[in-house]
Amino acid sequence: MKILVTGGLGFIGSHTAVELQQAGYEVVILDDCSNSSEKVLDGITAITGQRPIFEKIDLKQKPDVIDFFKRHADLSGVIHFAASKAVGESVENPLLYYENNINTLVYILKQLAQKEKAGFIFSSSCTVYGQAEKMPITEDAPVKAAESPYGNTKQIGEEIISDTCKVTPHMNAISLRYFNPIGAHQSAEIGELPIGIPQNLVPFITQTGIGLREQLSVFGDDYPTEDGTCIRDYIHVVDLAKAHVVALERLIEGKNKKNYEVYNIGTGTGSSVLEVIESFERVSGKKLNYKIVGRRPGDVIQAYADTTKANKILGWKAQSSLDEAMRLAWLWEQKIRA
Ligand code: WQD
Repeated sequence: MKILVTGGLGFIGSHTAVELQQAGYEVVILDDCSNSSEKVLDGITAITGQRPIFEKIDLKQKPDVIDFFKRHADLSGVIHFAASKAVGESVENPLLYYENNINTLVYILKQLAQKEKAGFIFSSSCTVYGQAEKMPITEDAPVKAAESPYGNTKQIGEEIISDTCKVTPHMNAISLRYFNPIGAHQSAEIGELPIGIPQNLVPFITQTGIGLREQLSVFGDDYPTEDGTCIRDYIHVVDLAKAHVVALERLIEGKNKKNYEVYNIGTGTGSSVLEVIESFERVSGKKLNYKIVGRRPGDVIQAYADTTKANKILGWKAQSSLDEAMRLAWLWEQKIRA
């Protein structure tokens, strides 16, 4: 069976391509390489021994999307990662985000709606919950007003899919609401490749550890949490990738109860910024140079998943600990800087 992975050269997309191939699927990667490199194909091939089919396509070009789906009429499913995902950039350039994250989704869904059967997995985010009232966060926690255009594109994306599925009974979709993906493949052939100064905590930590960054700034230690720093649910990217294969198979095998479902994908455990730093120091044996600075606007105090639904209904559970994911993130950082 052939599966399209849009944004498949990206961090989560490339790890999912590996898991799909290892589960026996033929993978077609579509990526515009705006935030990734074709070299990632070599990493995927080094792990699985199979080079995915790759097409460099800008999904904002509707005719190219239509042409692609005509040439790949035998697709059994689509996993849609392709999107811009920098929270800060989305505030400065909202139209870039609405065009790149929404128009492209609509073009793909229009093609899928014309197929007899189509399984669609959407890359969503816990960011849709904003600051949830109750921890851990369940899927029926209210979706809050988005804190950024990026977060808004995830909320709007979910609504577009839900509305489409309501009137397209043969379309089956699942949105996976990721918490915080970290780590790298155990082979150190693929991993996170942030361009420029990393926005996210773990790549900034490993770049500080390797000496690429002078010092980590911890954005605030005056939050109402045990050690004063924000709490997140850091999930190993390979666990997250496996969740996509399980979700896709649920649709392909027709096990889904409704033709649109939503799952939180996290570990179910919250870790503070200082605990993540301690994890790095444990696995690397190095002292991390950091300082406490002011809060970052838009940060929620805490967000970690209630994973009961994914565990019980999807039949998926995260396997790796924070230390294991951090150890692999550090191994990857050392490999790419060697
Ligand atoms: C985690 C914690 C920061 C950097 C974002 C998006 C989310 C998803 C994952 C795309 C926070 C603190 C961070 C630093 C720090 N992105 N921090 N110093 O903000 O939870 O989630 O990335 O899908 O949608 O919202 O992740 O890694 O940026 O921050 O102190 O240099 O680390 O304040 O508490 P976040 P993050």
